[in-house]
Amino acid sequence: MEEPQPQMNFGTICKLQTLWDYLSVASAQEKSMKGTNTWRIFTYKELHAATNGFSEDYKLGEGGYGSVYWGKTTDGLQIAVKKLKAMNLKAEMEFAVEVEVLGRVKHKNLLRLRGYCAGTDQRLIVYDFMPNLSLQSHLHGRFSGDVQLDWKRRMNIAIGSAEGILYLHHEVTPHIIHRDIKASNVLLDSNFKPLVADFGFAKLIPEGVSHMTTHVKGTLGYLAPEYAMWGKVSESCDVYSFGILLLELITGRKPIEKLPGRVKRTITEWAEPLISQGRFRDLVDPKIRGNFDENQLKQAINVAALCVQSEPAKRPNMKEVVSMLKGYDNTNGKALQMMRIESVKYKEELMALDQATDDEGVPEESG
Ligand SMILES: Nc1ncnc2c1ncn2[C@@H]1O[C@H](COP(=O)(O)OP(=O)(O)OP(=O)(O)O)[C@@H](O)[C@H]1O
Ligand SMILES: [Mg+2]
Repeated sequence: MEEPQPQMNFGTICKLQTLWDYLSVASAQEKSMKGTNTWRIFTYKELHAATNGFSEDYKLGEGGYGSVYWGKTTDGLQIAVKKLKAMNLKAEMEFAVEVEVLGRVKHKNLLRLRGYCAGTDQRLIVYDFMPNLSLQSHLHGRFSGDVQLDWKRRMNIAIGSAEGILYLHHEVTPHIIHRDIKASNVLLDSNFKPLVADFGFAKLIPEGVSHMTTHVKGTLGYLAPEYAMWGKVSESCDVYSFGILLLELITGRKPIEKLPGRVKRTITEWAEPLISQGRFRDLVDPKIRGNFDENQLKQAINVAALCVQSEPAKRPNMKEVVSMLKGYDNTNGKALQMMRIESVKYKEELMALDQATDDEGVPEESG
C-alpha cells in the first residue's frame, strides 16, 4: 500500500487502512452483500478481453468520469464497463468507498454493481448492460426516431426513477444524494424499466462550482438554482432535477435548448406560459400523437411544477413525489394544484458553460 500523503489527517489514514483491510478480504472471491446483491472482482485482462481491448466500436459513451464500453464475459454475461480517468490517492479511497456503498445498495430501480477492477493504475467499474441504453438516447439520441416511449412507458419511467431516488434519500443507510439526476443516468432494461445509475460516483465530484466547470455538459439544465449558484447540496436538489426530468418525459424537450442567434432557453421558460394559460395538451411531446391520459398529464405537470420551485423548502420530498405520481395524495395539503410553474434562467456565465446544447458539442452517446 502506498504511504499516506503528509496532508492527510489521522482520521483519513485510519479510514483508508480499514478500507484497505476490507477490500483485501473482499477480494478473496465473489462476495455476497446483504444476501442477494452479489458482485465480484474482475481482472483487467478479463475486462480487456470482454470489451475487445476497450475498442472504440464497443464504446457506449463518455461522461465526466471516463468512458463506458459494452462487453461480454466468457460466461456470456453482457456488461457495461466504466473506465475511470487517472486517479490520485484521495480519489482512490473515494473509489473504494463508493464501490462498497454501491455493493450494499439494492433496489429494483437502481443499476446494480457487478463488480470492479482496481489494478495499479486502472479503476474500472462493471455494471449490468442495459439493452435499451439511456432515457436520453430515446428522447434525444439514436433511438429518438423509433418512438418506443409511449405515454404509459413514460409514466412508468417517471414513477420507477422516483422510487429509486426515494430509496437513496430515505431508505439506504447512509442516505445518498444523487446530485446528477438526468436522462443519461436513467437506463432502460429490455422492458423499459428504469434503473437510475451513477448514484455513487456523483459524490466524487467536488462540491460547488468546480462541478460546473469540469462537467457541466448536458447537466446544467437539471441543476437546482441554489446548487448551480452556490453549490448548496441537499436532497431537494435531486427533487428539482427530477422535476426537470419529468418535464422532459412529458414534453420530449431538452432541459436547455438552443434557439437561433445563440439564445438558450430552459424547459421551464418554455413551459411557463403554456401552463399559466392552461394549455396542458400543448405541452405533450407531439411524438405521442395525443395518446395520453389527461388526468395523469395534469397530475404529472403539477408534480413537476412543485419540484422545480426555486425555494428548496417548498419542494416536496421524494416520498410525496411518488405518492402524487401514483395518484394518491398524502402530502398534507402540500400538493396544491400549482398549475403555474416557476421558470429558471441561469446566469449568462453558466449558460456559456453548457456545451451540450451547442451544435458542435460532443455527442452524449456515441457508437
Ligand atoms: N449499464 C449501462 N448500460 C448501457 N448504457 C450505459 C450503461 N452505463 C452507462 N451507459 C451509457 O454510457 C454513456 C456514458 O455514461 P456516463 O455515466 O459515463 O456518462 P453520462 O451519464 O453522460 O454523464 P455522467 O458522467 O454525469 O454520469 C451514457 O450515455 C450512458 O447512458
Ligand atoms: Mg452516467
